Amino acid sequence: MSKTSGDKSKPPPSSPVSRATLLSPFLLLAFIFSIVVFYFIDFSWYVSRVQDHEHSDTSQKISTPEKRRERLPFAIGEGNNGCDLFSGRWVRDYGRPLYEEWECPYLEPQTTCLEHGRPEKDYQYWRWQPDGCSIPSFNATLMLEGLRGKRTMFIGDSLNRGQFTSLICLLQRIIPPHAKSMQTFGSLTVFTAKEYNATIEFYWAPFLLESNADNPFKHRVSDRIIRNGSVDKHGEHWKGADILVFNSYIWWISGLRILLQGSFEDEVKEIADITREDGYHIAMKSLVKWINTNVDPQKSRVFFISMSPTHQRSYKWGGDQNGNCYNETTMIEDPTFFGAKKSLMQVITEELSKSTIPITFINITQLSSPRKDAHTSIYKKQWVPLTEKQLSDPQSYADCIHWCLPGLQDIWNELLFSKLFYP
Ligand SMILES: *[C@@H]1O[C@H](CO)[C@@H](O)[C@H](O)[C@H]1NC(C)=O
Ligand SMILES: *[C@@H]1O[C@H](CO)[C@@H](O)[C@H](O)[C@H]1NC(C)=O
Ligand SMILES: *[C@@H]1O[C@H](CO)[C@@H](O)[C@H](O)[C@H]1NC(C)=O
Ligand SMILES: *[C@@H]1O[C@H](CO)[C@@H](O)[C@H](O)[C@H]1NC(C)=O
Ligand SMILES: *[C@@H]1O[C@H](CO)[C@@H](O)[C@H](O)[C@H]1NC(C)=O
Repeated sequence: MSKTSGDKSKPPPSSPVSRATLLSPFLLLAFIFSIVVFYFIDFSWYVSRVQDHEHSDTSQKISTPEKRRERLPFAIGEGNNGCDLFSGRWVRDYGRPLYEEWECPYLEPQTTCLEHGRPEKDYQYWRWQPDGCSIPSFNATLMLEGLRGKRTMFIGDSLNRGQFTSLICLLQRIIPPHAKSMQTFGSLTVFTAKEYNATIEFYWAPFLLESNADNPFKHRVSDRIIRNGSVDKHGEHWKGADILVFNSYIWWISGLRILLQGSFEDEVKEIADITREDGYHIAMKSLVKWINTNVDPQKSRVFFISMSPTHQRSYKWGGDQNGNCYNETTMIEDPTFFGAKKSLMQVITEELSKSTIPITFINITQLSSPRKDAHTSIYKKQWVPLTEKQLSDPQSYADCIHWCLPGLQDIWNELLFSKLFYP
């Protein structure tokens, strides 16, 4: 994907006569272009209403749209037809990171690993190299121009908050101090780039559905309960965003129950156990329904970020019986290691493909799975003072879920940048 300079040439000034003669080859070109886009764009998530129910294999179904697709909003060039950005390899790159930890005032203390004592920064010197093409270089000016007058909203859990922060750090360095701000209003955190009249926002909704973990500050509940089908309560706050970036994974992996009757505050309510797969189905179905009711595909784009892998048990990648990501500074070499629940990937595939509104899937799970070196581990702010016992065994409190910044999540944003502007 090296088409970073596509479509920039302006037509020469012309008299009406020469314009008419120019017009027909131009129309022909436009037609050919739309046919090319029509056939070769990554259809996997754009078009998916499957009309043919005869074959019932579970593989991803791709059907032809009835109407020719318009160019996607925000697109300024084409992607490299058919190139899968998500399969590739990690390449050492000492030109990284794209910003320094000390340079970004918006980083939260849960992600600033160097500040919290991480002794080496090898994890920062990697870029992702897809097999069939290259990712266009991240260009903050271009992105801010593209976001002019727009609202971008990340919605989901703390991993999505990390990606939101990473994007702000990637963009904020070209904005002078007086022209930017960050504010929090309950579940919503808003970064404003004043001269661009653009906001980049994060909305806390770890299950997407209404749940008992919705308090943006106090949500450490072990007994997690979701409310059936209730995406609209949060969804009310997502309306009008021009770019929506969803995720939801980590909260689903422990025990879960579902509220069938009543509200969370009621004394009498009906609650049932539910498997994580069934719960996730409900959430994804509700999300797709919300998107199809509320998103205008002529002006908005929707992204879904796949599961962020974890590294809490070394034996899963052939390591120590008791280890985790603590003290890990290298990647996992086994290319088949997958650090997340495959069953949930299947649910995503199944449910999101039912959307008639294009949802662009950012499939970061496999590519992030080798990155046991990139977690915050013990190098972050601890909210509760550590005990003597913990201090003597650092592994016991290492965070093998979240990621250091700058770091891995910057690459997720390069992929987002790529799919937004060069779909
Ligand atoms: C970044 O994008 C801007 C605006 O499109 C362009 O003027 C500039 O040349 C680009 N920078 C690089 C390094 O490509
Ligand atoms: C700023 O952007 C908002 C949308 O986020 C739009 O409604 C408003 O008209 C814009 N204002 C200016 C001055 O461009
Ligand atoms: C959730 O609600 C939907 C629609 O109202 C219903 O079909 C489904 O059975 C409910 N699921 C559970 C687990 O109660
Ligand atoms: C960290 O790993 C290195 C080998 O990679 C080992 O030599 C060292 O003892 C380990 N440190 C701790 C504190 O476990
Ligand atoms: C995402 O990538 C994984 C592994 O590369 C693959 O198994 C899965 O099918 C992909 N998911 C989608 C929805 O494309």
